[in-house]
This record gives sequence, structure tokens and C-alpha cells, in this order.
Amino acid sequence: MTGPCQCLPPFPTQPNTIHHDASTSPYLVRGTKIRWLPNSTCPWVHLRYLVDHLSTLYSDHLDCGLAPVRRNSCVLVAVFCYIRGERGPSGFGSCSTGEQVTEDISCSIPPNLTAIITGGTSGIGAETARVLAKRGVRLVMPARNLKRAAEVRQGIRRESPEAEIIVMEMDLSSFASIQRFCSEFLSLRLPLNILINNAGKFSKKLELTEDKLEMTFATNYLGHYLLTKNLLEKMVETATRTGIEGRIINVSSVVHRWVKKEGFRFSDMLNPKYYNGTHAYARSKLANIMHAKEIARQLKARKAKVTINAVHPGIVKTGITKDYKGLITDSLFFFASRLLKSASQGASTTCYVALSPRVVGISGKYFVDCNESSCSTLANDEDEAQILRQKTDALLRKRLHQAYK
Ligand SMILES: NC(=O)c1ccc[n+]([C@@H]2O[C@H](COP(=O)([O-])OP(=O)(O)OC[C@H]3O[C@@H](n4cnc5c(N)ncnc54)[C@H](OP(=O)(O)O)[C@@H]3O)[C@@H](O)[C@H]2O)c1
Repeated sequence: MTGPCQCLPPFPTQPNTIHHDASTSPYLVRGTKIRWLPNSTCPWVHLRYLVDHLSTLYSDHLDCGLAPVRRNSCVLVAVFCYIRGERGPSGFGSCSTGEQVTEDISCSIPPNLTAIITGGTSGIGAETARVLAKRGVRLVMPARNLKRAAEVRQGIRRESPEAEIIVMEMDLSSFASIQRFCSEFLSLRLPLNILINNAGKFSKKLELTEDKLEMTFATNYLGHYLLTKNLLEKMVETATRTGIEGRIINVSSVVHRWVKKEGFRFSDMLNPKYYNGTHAYARSKLANIMHAKEIARQLKARKAKVTINAVHPGIVKTGITKDYKGLITDSLFFFASRLLKSASQGASTTCYVALSPRVVGISGKYFVDCNESSCSTLANDEDEAQILRQKTDALLRKRLHQAYK
């Protein structure tokens, strides 16, 4: 290594044309003007979140064996690149939007793809749904708020009148509701090419689901685990029949890094003795990555033409943080605003992993800003992932009796 930048990825030098879609983001985002200061979130959690986001993006460089001074310069250069929206090896970066990452490939996207997207009623999910519909993908939007889902569908159809969008009822915090949705969906006899496990919950106070489980973990992880399990054979069958690779995307978060092994106990995640909303959220997001990696191993062993990856969408001001409000946080977000993404930028990594031909055959990976990235050591721990799967299966078998195989 002769210079501080040598451990950075080879960023292509083409100009970075940034089309911010400020209308989809209520917040101040990089490259746009200040519009207004919104309600915001717990300040210290989010300060740490922002710092972690940046260090994670470039964590490869932290391990690149350089002396501390040189390594720090690498990180500084990398942060500068992030703020500028420099592109990574995929040709896209932190400023790329969902539309941009699917623009050049729109002709090569196979016709008649069908995607299920959870959490399509707001934030990153609504924007992902809009972009996918624009690219001709038939959407199935399971939602607990049917009125809101119908409004989103109407909005998408205004822009893409041909879009086929099926709204169905599903509450991810209820096993019974997920089972109902899956059997209704399967009875439609549609193909299934893409499953986007995007919905997310961040609950500040301890809430229990109707199954008497902690709400955040149940919604973000258990619900998506059951959904994926129920739909996996349909995806494998569709891929085998059509020859088109099926793709599952688990929307995770950089905060998975905050979880230590001793804090990742299954029984405590189901029914925590001392509840902390941030911990519950971080653990559910770690479980999302472990889930992706574990299923990827199973699918590879079966030689199934279906991949599964996890993504961190970036930091976007959406409804997920509605539990927290405050002046300090508003100020913090104001000063950190150049690090935030708009919803259209936040949807880019999911859209990229769902549709790009550059991702063919890639499975069990973690993506940030449309590029493969590294996740925590615990997220890569195969034994832990296996234990998590076994315990999840045991729980679901117990709760769902013979309906669960
Ligand atoms: N925003 C960020 O900075 C950020 C950063 C990292 C990761 N993420 C992840 O990105 C994903 C999308 O979050 P977002 O920021 O777009 O948040 P959001 O605007 O709050 O959207 C969350 C979506 O999840 C749905 N949802 C929540 N609980 C549900 C349930 N029980 N059943 C069915 N749907 C449910 C919501 O539906 P309702 O309309 O019914 O509430 C909503 O559509 C989440 O997985 C989140 O963890 C976000």
C-alpha cells in the first residue's frame, strides 16, 4: 500500500448525476435545500446510528491492515466519497435512486415478474413499490392498513396506469394473519419471482402481539420468517419452471452491529425481562441477516434458482421513527442532514438487488448503497444462524401445530 486511498474500492470516474426526489422525503437530504424541520427521533440513538452507518460502509478499510493514521485517512476519504455520493464497483452509490439503478436495465427485466413487498404502504417500501411497478413488475402488497395501501396503489397507477397491483390483508405481527395471507395468495395461482421483506416496526415501549410475543422482534423477524417459509416452495417452483432467478430481499439495518452475542438470546427476544426498543430493533435486524444467510445456504445446497440477500437501505427519515420526537433530535438531524437519504435513495439498494443482472447468482450477502458490504462477525456466525433457525422453527411448530412443517 503506497497511498491512503489504495484500500478504497475503485470508484468509476463518470460524473455522478444526482436526481433527488425531494418530494418523497420530508427531510433535508444531501444535495437539496433545507425545506423544513420535521418531527424527529431519539438523538443519541441516531447520532450513533449515523456514525455506525458511515463506519460500516467502509469497514473493509478498517480491516485492511494499514497503520492507524493511514487507515483513518482512508476512512475520512471514504466518508467524503459517501457524502459526495461517489459510486462503488456496481456503478452506483449513496446518492443513486431506485429509478436510476433500474433505468438502464429496464429493457432486460423479464416481463410478467411478480413481486410481493411487505410494508409497501409508506417510506422506503412505498417508493420501492413505485419503482418496481414502473419497471413493469406485477405487485402484491400485503398490508394491515388496506386504506393506505389502496391510496399508494392509486398513486402508483397515476404514474404507471398499466401497473398491476393487488392489495391483500396481512398483519405481520400475527401468525394467523400471515397464514391466511399465504393461503389466499397461493390460491391465486400466480407465479412468485421476488419477495421483499421490507416492513419494519420500531416500538419504543414494550408491546405484545396477539401471540404474546414482543412486537418488534415478532413483526420484523418472526413474521418475515414465517412468510418466507410459506412462500419459498412457490418461488423455487416458479424459478424452475420459468428459468428466471427468484430473489428474496430482507431489509435489515446497520444497527445489527450493535448486538453482542450475549445479548442475542432467543427467549429474551420473545419476552424481554427489561425492554429496550433500540435493542429489540437491532436484534430483529441482526436476525434478518442471519435468516438471509441461513436460507441462502439451504437454497444453495438444493441448487435452487432462488437467491436471498440482506440490505441496509441507508438512513432515511420515515415513519419508522415516529415513536420519538424532539427538538434536540431535530437539531441533530439538521446538522447531520448531508448524511441522510431521500426515500428514493433509500429504495435504491432494494431495487438494485431485486432487479439488476449484476446480482445474478449472488446469495447470502449484505448490500449497502447498491454494493456488497460486510456485516458484523455475529451476523456471519453460521452456528448462531442455525440455532436461531432451529429455535424459530420449534416456536412456530408449537404455535401453529400441524399447519407448520
Ligand atoms: N428509515 C431508515 O432510516 C431505515 C434504516 C435502516 C433500515 N430501515 C428498514 O427499512 C424498512 C422500511 O422502513 P421505513 O423506514 O420505510 O419505515 P416506515 O415508513 O415506517 O414503513 C414501515 C412499513 O412497515 C409496515 N408495517 C409495520 N408493522 C407492520 C405489521 N405488523 N404488518 C404489516 N405491515 C407492517 C408499515 O405499515 P403501516 O402503514 O400499516 O404502519 C409500513 O408500511 C424497515 O424494515 C426498516 O427497519 C429503515
